Amino acid sequence: MTEITIPRPDDWHLHLRDGAMLEGVLPYSARDFARAIIMPNLVPPVVTGADAAAYRDRILAALPKDLDFTPLMTLYLTEGTDPADVASAHASGLVTAVKLYPAGATTNSHSGVRDLGKVMPVLEKMAEIGMPLCIHGEVTDPAVDIFDREAVFIDTVLDPLRARVPELRITLEHVTTSQGVDYVMGADANLAATITTHHLMINRNAILVGGIKPHYYCLPVAKRESHRLALRKAATSGDKRFFLGTDSAPHVDPLKECACGCAGIFTAINTLSCLAHVFEEEGALDHLAGFTSRNGPAWYGLPVNEAMVTLVRRETPVHWPERIFTGDGPVTVFDPLLPIHWEVA
Ligand code: DOR
Ligand code: ZN
Repeated sequence: MTEITIPRPDDWHLHLRDGAMLEGVLPYSARDFARAIIMPNLVPPVVTGADAAAYRDRILAALPKDLDFTPLMTLYLTEGTDPADVASAHASGLVTAVKLYPAGATTNSHSGVRDLGKVMPVLEKMAEIGMPLCIHGEVTDPAVDIFDREAVFIDTVLDPLRARVPELRITLEHVTTSQGVDYVMGADANLAATITTHHLMINRNAILVGGIKPHYYCLPVAKRESHRLALRKAATSGDKRFFLGTDSAPHVDPLKECACGCAGIFTAINTLSCLAHVFEEEGALDHLAGFTSRNGPAWYGLPVNEAMVTLVRRETPVHWPERIFTGDGPVTVFDPLLPIHWEVA
């Protein structure tokens, strides 16, 4: 196959940041995606409905006029979150989901949740109104090895939470392990998962072999090869519970290339090309549209986009800039480490 036409994709997990960075990165997502779930981990975080309304306005103000893009807003769950504010932001259509960051798990997560007991009234309200909870699924216990933090989270936090609030609809974000894949596959209809582009393409060797490579560092950190293969199998299987959330997470190069580099990989620019490559390698191009364009809307109760997008397989590899230049500084683009021939027409 040298050409594939799919409904215009959506990105179910995206970091757009704010200010000059927002202006610098938004056009890339808006070019290839119709909608995206916008992560709320700004400084300060997007906690209330009013915060989300203001952030949504800033995103729309930064959007180039010729691009059609709808930001789907999320609220950052804190131990002080008001269930009534969450419910009214959802009822008005302003906010699509709530994001749970275990405090300390990742970038700007210090205002996140330490004690799940304290947010039970919010979670119970969300279960009642059918509002999904997006979860960064990693424990923060320093005694737990960083490569085990997702699996331990599933056993010690997610599974008990699902037993306690079975009606709560949960998106387990950016699964990176075979345990995550197996857990979602074995769960009921109230659990789904996003998978990033980069976790389908790299394993932990990309970060650590031949020198330390900060531009492959993200959280959850890429795992060993057997996990990558499990993710590829899930993403390309056609299983409706798995869909794309790029977790494209730009940081300026000086904050990545330093003694304590930030977590995050910027993939907004070449995600669709990389995914076509992965699905072609897996002999599953017929499942690409499910992963990028159909399964996510079904989970979030939204229509599939009517517009169509064609990806073309070129004879010679396609190229992107090594980095983009934003008003905040340069941001290195994800390098998939192999030639990619697919291009959005
Ligand atoms: O790699 C990551 N970067 N993982 C996250 O969970 C957060 C994100 C960010 O905001 O930079
Ligand atoms: Zn993220």
